[in-house]
Amino acid sequence: MSKKEVLETTEAQIAVHWKEEELYYPSSKFIGQANLNDPAIFDKFSLDNFPDYYTSFAELLTWYKYWDEVLDTSDAPCYKWFKGGKLNASYNCIDRHLEKNKNKTAIHFVPELEEENVQHITYQELYVRVNEFAALLRDTAKLKRGDRVTIHMPMSAELPITMLACARLGVIHSVVFGGFSASASADRIVDSQSRVLIVTDAYYRAGNLLEHKKNADDAVKIAAEQGQVVDTVLVWERYPGKYSADTPMVEGRDISVNAELKKYYGKRVEPEQMLSEDPLFLMYTSGTTGKPKGCQHGTGGYLAYVTAMSKYIQDIHPEDVYWCMADIGWITGHSFIVYGPLALCASTVIYEGVPTYPDAGRSWRIAQELDVNIFHTAPTAIRALRKLGPDEPAKYNYDFKHMTTVGEPIEPAVWKWYESAVGKGRAAIVDTYWQTETGGFLCSTVPGISPMKPGSCGPGVPGIHPIIFDDEGKPVGPGIAGNICIQNPWPGMFQTIWGDRDRFVDTYFGMYNTKPDSKDWRDWPYLTGDAATVGEDGYYRVLGRIDDVINVSGHRLGTKEIESAALVADEVAEAAVVPVNHEIKGKEPDLYIALKPGIEATDELAKKISDVVCEQIGKIAKPRKVWLVPDMPKTRSGKIMRRVLGAISNKGDVGNVMTLANPEVVEEIKDMVDNS
Ligand code: PRX
Repeated sequence: MSKKEVLETTEAQIAVHWKEEELYYPSSKFIGQANLNDPAIFDKFSLDNFPDYYTSFAELLTWYKYWDEVLDTSDAPCYKWFKGGKLNASYNCIDRHLEKNKNKTAIHFVPELEEENVQHITYQELYVRVNEFAALLRDTAKLKRGDRVTIHMPMSAELPITMLACARLGVIHSVVFGGFSASASADRIVDSQSRVLIVTDAYYRAGNLLEHKKNADDAVKIAAEQGQVVDTVLVWERYPGKYSADTPMVEGRDISVNAELKKYYGKRVEPEQMLSEDPLFLMYTSGTTGKPKGCQHGTGGYLAYVTAMSKYIQDIHPEDVYWCMADIGWITGHSFIVYGPLALCASTVIYEGVPTYPDAGRSWRIAQELDVNIFHTAPTAIRALRKLGPDEPAKYNYDFKHMTTVGEPIEPAVWKWYESAVGKGRAAIVDTYWQTETGGFLCSTVPGISPMKPGSCGPGVPGIHPIIFDDEGKPVGPGIAGNICIQNPWPGMFQTIWGDRDRFVDTYFGMYNTKPDSKDWRDWPYLTGDAATVGEDGYYRVLGRIDDVINVSGHRLGTKEIESAALVADEVAEAAVVPVNHEIKGKEPDLYIALKPGIEATDELAKKISDVVCEQIGKIAKPRKVWLVPDMPKTRSGKIMRRVLGAISNKGDVGNVMTLANPEVVEEIKDMVDNS
């Protein structure tokens, strides 16, 4: 992105209304039981002690061999954490708990249909199922250490079983969010060069059993067109023994996992001794260009980091019942449904469906029934729960000691409802700010130490040292917006973009690194891509992205990604996407389209373009509105003025447009939007 673009957006972000909020203090009951309540932690984790302070995180894990070096910077900014150490993530999340806790619930799987029973999977059962499935992956699917496999599955107990079986073999998993389209799955199959795809036949969403297997057929076809052959599709059944999809199984390619598993009854697979720096998984995320980036996370650093964050920031104890409502197909689910909680031997809840299905009380019934005491969700879900059932939580008897909000800025009013209605005024709340790339938290209060401030995520978590720079790289003081960066590396950060080291270096370090050959981590501040301000008290407030990324329901969608999807429709000449404020989702994409000459603008065509976007990416990218405009507002050099379109969509001030090449079109578009 050019410096000018950064400046333009940052200025717009400063306009965000800023008001100091009062502080909320955690209860003494919470502080007394907290895993971390000693403020001396911040001194221990000061930059003077970097990187050695992170050994205490690694010591939370069980290692086959200890590391030789805490941090190897010889290939900066591609770092190696706990270099030379050997461990296995599946062993750390399962085997090591068996001696004392084999009979404890590892996973509570809650089907969406209330009449179906909750499955309580013990650590012993998880061990058995992961081993048998790992044997199947090895012997039937012929997967081995270092291979990549794409997993396109909905929320189910089988999803973490699949991930942990991969980890056991050293196979690198790439999970695609279940709601994404076949085309999105295919892109990830191609980029990661997966020859095996793992899916589910069907799943429940809002009361309907949705066909999912068809996505596999389509994805395999699209991937083949792009040169990547998938020779094996493993299909889990929503109802074991009963195939619930309409599309037939493809002879010689598709294998029913539930039937095939019978061959592996009682099989055990020794966990591979992975190097700490070996990749554990890929997670794709949107960036400024059309192509999603495969964030490559390592084994030792990542697992140490998410385990420590789960322990100290989520305050998970082994006896807790912990429910993170995110989807495992996003980074939040990887780190804070699967790896972190299981490494700590907690009981983690996986819910199949919609939080408000069949009514606004459903989430609180789940909490009551399972006696959940730690709850984790995103502002978009909080807004929806608040809108549909503001008084529902009071009707149910549950007791949260701790709650998290994650994924996007939360409005103070929404935060306060979360605190008083959902938390019943008793829960400590953390607003965790982080990213797919960062593996775990960047900023948050430590719940047993620091007070909460609605709308601010808090200071850097222990070990993370944020800094806000202006566009020239000068640090800015309190109250001024700039680009939030992290001064130091940390074990949870991704290692690189899969197969594209140059893009990794450019995107995340290009802006502020002045010595490209330096091996000193101090020369490589990490650019998050977010604008933020810091208060006098050291609490950060994230204002939003500075790049072309829209945060919809707490998840990143590249505007370019949506624009390229729209261009798949033959009639489209130009496409521009802008974020529009939405009461529940935070932001939604508005799609402006200029049609090719001679094509008539009709409602049917607008719908077709919207459908094309959903087919290409998934429903999450569905435009709020497709505007078929006579022309795009453009600068004299031909650049589409997205800022002007954004102002029109949000009913804001378009500013001075007289310098544009075609100022008259702005009025026309404005009339169209205002009168719709
Ligand atoms: O803009 C920030 C916003 O979400 C982006 C990261 O999105 P993603 O990689 O999909 O990961 C989502 C789950 C961590 C960030 O660059 N964001 C995330 N958490 C917060 C936030 N904005 C404000 N407050 C947060 N707590």
